[in-house]
Amino acid sequence: MKKLYLFLLCLCFAGIQGKAQQKTNPDSIKQKMQWFADAKLGIFIHWGIYAVNGIDESWSFHNKKISYADYMKQMDGFTARNYDPQQWADLINESGAKYAVITTKHHDGVALWPTKQKHFNVVKNTPAKRDLLKPFYEALDKHGIKKGAYFSLIDWSYPDYPGFLKDSSRYKVADNPQRWQRFQRFYQAQINEVNTAYKPDLWWFDGDWEHSAAEWQCVKVRTDILSLKPQAILNGRLQGYGDYDTPEQNFPVSRPKFHWWELCMTTNNNWGYHPDDTNYKTPFEVISIFTDAISNGGNLLLDIGPDKDGNIPTEQVHILKELGKWTKKHQEAIYGTLAGLPQGHFYGASTLSKDSTTVYLFLPGQTTGNIMVKGLDNKIKDIQVVGTQEHLSPKIVGKVSWSPIPGIVFINVPDAQKDQYMTVLKLSLNEPLKLYRGQGGLN
Ligand code: GLC
Repeated sequence: MKKLYLFLLCLCFAGIQGKAQQKTNPDSIKQKMQWFADAKLGIFIHWGIYAVNGIDESWSFHNKKISYADYMKQMDGFTARNYDPQQWADLINESGAKYAVITTKHHDGVALWPTKQKHFNVVKNTPAKRDLLKPFYEALDKHGIKKGAYFSLIDWSYPDYPGFLKDSSRYKVADNPQRWQRFQRFYQAQINEVNTAYKPDLWWFDGDWEHSAAEWQCVKVRTDILSLKPQAILNGRLQGYGDYDTPEQNFPVSRPKFHWWELCMTTNNNWGYHPDDTNYKTPFEVISIFTDAISNGGNLLLDIGPDKDGNIPTEQVHILKELGKWTKKHQEAIYGTLAGLPQGHFYGASTLSKDSTTVYLFLPGQTTGNIMVKGLDNKIKDIQVVGTQEHLSPKIVGKVSWSPIPGIVFINVPDAQKDQYMTVLKLSLNEPLKLYRGQGGLN
């Protein structure tokens, strides 16, 4: 019973995180959201002092798995000795990702850049002793990869921040508004530093659930960022004042309602470096999740967690490289496409070209042999196995001469054309996609 309750509570929490009520107007942000909609794949990087012990980022002290003092001692071991930002950017590029989001500061308050505010940062407090953001963003720029800044609104280390451990906080905002104002000034100054120094294309806020939009001054935060960089995109964790939704780990089953969304997901079970966690997703699983996300109009933000020296775990390198082979071969079915067929037509993921005269079908699992498409009210001009020169012919069955209802399309995919991970078919149609969505019978 207790387990069930906890499970429901988690679901509810994830739901709240995923369903930020957007207060921005989708029409007014459409143009700036275009690169994001076309990008499909981003890489998330959780890098911080938690990599030293390989424990949960910030939550480990908050949830009292380790004392705060011991958690912060990790600062002494954060060397970034082998940090090669160009190599990181090259790998991200190889994966096929078009944007990358790095933790500029997590809930523990340790900034990865030399903040001018009186607070922890890797330059002053760790043997890394240098700005870790600047060279990374420069390396991304060389590849034309968009730059994202994860920024935790929560700062459990800052003396003027109310929250601290799960069962103790410093004060209540209502009891000491001036103290809260000091925090507001501090965290907004930090955002301003990052914005001025690195001009991120995308802000990835986190932790908005600890305070209201009014307390965070979300409208001001949004306005300040956009006044410096009007095209910047803000994720939805800003109490509704962001531009897109961010379901986390939990995969949406029905299509999310908001125009733009991004599933953030770990490669194993943890965001940061966790050598004890070997529960890695296979490249096939990542590709299945990725195609399902884009099929439903979303993006995937896939996470990696480098170690204290700046090495990316070999399992994660493997996943990114394999993903890259697949995205490269199938790029036309991925980038710049639209969400695919609604449920019921094809048992698998799909995407559409922007003019919807091309349908891309992602063959579920390792399927070959016959696949079925229902309700396709178009003529198929051509079928190509994406990434190959192979063309296939459809077989139409069940077409009744006197009925307007389209027949069922079967396509036989020979074994030799099978992709190692997921085969993709390109269906070129005679005109923009038309679907029959009735219940059969006479109409
Ligand atoms: C959660 C966690 C945080 C993690 C983030 C990534 O909000 O608080 O630790 O960084 O998810 O989406």
